[in-house]
Amino acid sequence: MLRAGSRILARNGVENPEGEARWLWACLSHVECVPRQTGLSREPTREEESRFREWIGRRARGEPAAYLTGVEEFYGLRLGTGPEVLVPRDDSEVLVEEALAFLPQDRAARILDLGTGSGCLLLAVLHHRPRVRGLGVDRSRGALEAARANAVRLGLDGRARFLQASWLEALHGERFDLILCNPPYVEPGEAVAFGVAEFEPAVALFTPPGRPYRAYEAILTRTAEVLRPGGRLILEVGAGRAKAVATLGAAARGLEFVKVRRDLGGIERAVVLERRTAVPARPCRRQQVFRNPPG
Ligand SMILES: C[S@@+](CC[C@H](N)C(=O)[O-])C[C@H]1O[C@@H](n2cnc3c(N)ncnc32)[C@H](O)[C@@H]1O
Repeated sequence: MLRAGSRILARNGVENPEGEARWLWACLSHVECVPRQTGLSREPTREEESRFREWIGRRARGEPAAYLTGVEEFYGLRLGTGPEVLVPRDDSEVLVEEALAFLPQDRAARILDLGTGSGCLLLAVLHHRPRVRGLGVDRSRGALEAARANAVRLGLDGRARFLQASWLEALHGERFDLILCNPPYVEPGEAVAFGVAEFEPAVALFTPPGRPYRAYEAILTRTAEVLRPGGRLILEVGAGRAKAVATLGAAARGLEFVKVRRDLGGIERAVVLERRTAVPARPCRRQQVFRNPPG
């Protein structure tokens, strides 16, 4: 059954066909893990066999395994997933690493996760930092429901809040020590992995046509208002985009560039910015009148 399944996946261009067939079986049969060398570990029931065939067929047509099984692993946590949320990617784990390096174990802090999706970034940080509280913002109601369910499942709902809004628009008077954001950064028409464009939510993937930095610009113009002095903003970026985003960030009011972080594949994946301690006041008409009184 596994051999036949992995052959079908291989024929349809799935990258790790044997591993995926085994993972589908493990989830379907509630076996925690299936070692490479063993077979099915037990005979499947008729029902399991037909469900397995169905899943293999759907996976072969590009549907992400995480939508079939309803779960995905991220930074050691098992998260619920579904078609309303982007499947959490290993590449994004560097944002969590950077966040944990910035927040000492015993520090009480408030974090903001913009475009929270499944809640993966926010919940991974809360899981490892028991004194941190956080807010996840997303414009998608379905994503927020998934993130909330994940917070409950992981016992983190006491420290995680969620809000339906566009980026920073609904946040007035709130201050955070750290902001994480993995915005949509695929340009329409850009090549993506098998099944991604067909099955994962467009709102999580694509930038408006001709505006690849739209989300970054919207966030950077208001970051200084919600980030405490000395606080950090960690932005995920697509391959080849780190320099442009770092330049936008360094030019944003009150922010300075800290570093670019590579993912495990060696691709520049995250741009880290810091809120300067003294932000020069934006000149407004009243101040100009005061400084240069007419006559
Ligand atoms: C690339 S996904 C990231 C999901 C999750 N944080 C992760 O790393 O897997 C981008 C997320 O941003 C959300 N999003 C898109 N436009 C938004 C907007 N204007 N305001 C808030 N969230 C938005 C999408 O719904 C999606 O959940």
